[in-house]
Amino acid sequence: MNIKYYSEKDFPSYLPKLNNLYDDLFEGGKGFRSLLTQKVARPLGVDEKTLRLLCQTIEFIHNASLLHDDLIDRSSLRRGKTTAWLKYTPEYAVLAGDYLLARVMTNLSSHGNIELVQFTSQTISELLEGEWIQDSLVGDFHLSFEKLTEVHGLKTASLFRWCLFAPFIATHKNSEEISALVLELGTILGILFQRSDDLLDYDVRNQEGKAILGDLKSGYLNSFGAFFCSGIDGEIREKLRKVESLEELYRCIGEPYFWQKVKEFDTMNQELIELYDHKLTSLQSRLAGTEKAMIADLQHLPEILYWRRKPKSKGDTH
Ligand code: FPP
Ligand code: MG
Repeated sequence: MNIKYYSEKDFPSYLPKLNNLYDDLFEGGKGFRSLLTQKVARPLGVDEKTLRLLCQTIEFIHNASLLHDDLIDRSSLRRGKTTAWLKYTPEYAVLAGDYLLARVMTNLSSHGNIELVQFTSQTISELLEGEWIQDSLVGDFHLSFEKLTEVHGLKTASLFRWCLFAPFIATHKNSEEISALVLELGTILGILFQRSDDLLDYDVRNQEGKAILGDLKSGYLNSFGAFFCSGIDGEIREKLRKVESLEELYRCIGEPYFWQKVKEFDTMNQELIELYDHKLTSLQSRLAGTEKAMIADLQHLPEILYWRRKPKSKGDTH
């Protein structure tokens, strides 16, 4: 079960429009990052008050980034509802995002763990740097896959690193050895999640029926796009700029080539999952008795995040 990381009491009642905007925003969210944080924090013995602070911190940062992202992307829907910038104006959406970040800093600094404040500020900086670089890559159809991995390490993986590592900082269990391992695990999870999300854009394992080809049509060659493009020549790449449907894409690069590349992409990411498993075993050997309870939960995350298989039990990560 997810904890209640957001309530109306968290924001001033003299800002009713801001409260309405947050109700709309938080209502539809799965709170996945909050759940992930709890999976690590509970076995470490984080107290309930700090746990709520951690869950609220990560969800506020994530939702602030979505408020801004939807405006940048000019998206009209988020979690099945009209986006905040369209419903409340772009100005309010920006201010509501800024205010969430302000609350994060106020609440964390009152908590008084300076390392946690420092790590959180670094996370927000990385998130922004990733988004900044990604925006500068729009329109580049000669983009390397490695460059995108770097971007995803900043933009997507920063929040995964935070979920896994912040509970260790909060409990002062962040030895150098543990830090390195946990941060690497977060990076791998973030990259796997982003790559799987990028496959959805090409309608691969798209069980949720998300809109497809949004990235490609807006001129952004996502990680799977950059991966299959590495084997095709410049002239064909240029043709991709005009692709409007999957059928057109298949005509451009050939359907068998497309599926061959999906297979290779999966094989490469399966190797990354094996590296993740290996690092998780190393982490397990460094944790104390009851702390090891987090391993089972962390172990099946690639199944959910990359392969998009449904979690086995209720109350699991999604
Ligand atoms: C969703 O990506 C967006 C992000 C993961 C991060 C966006 C970051 C910013 C806008 C920087 C500002 C950050 C803060 C903290 C205010 P997507 O567009 O690929 O996915 P989507 O389909 O869910 O929109
Ligand atoms: Mg977006």
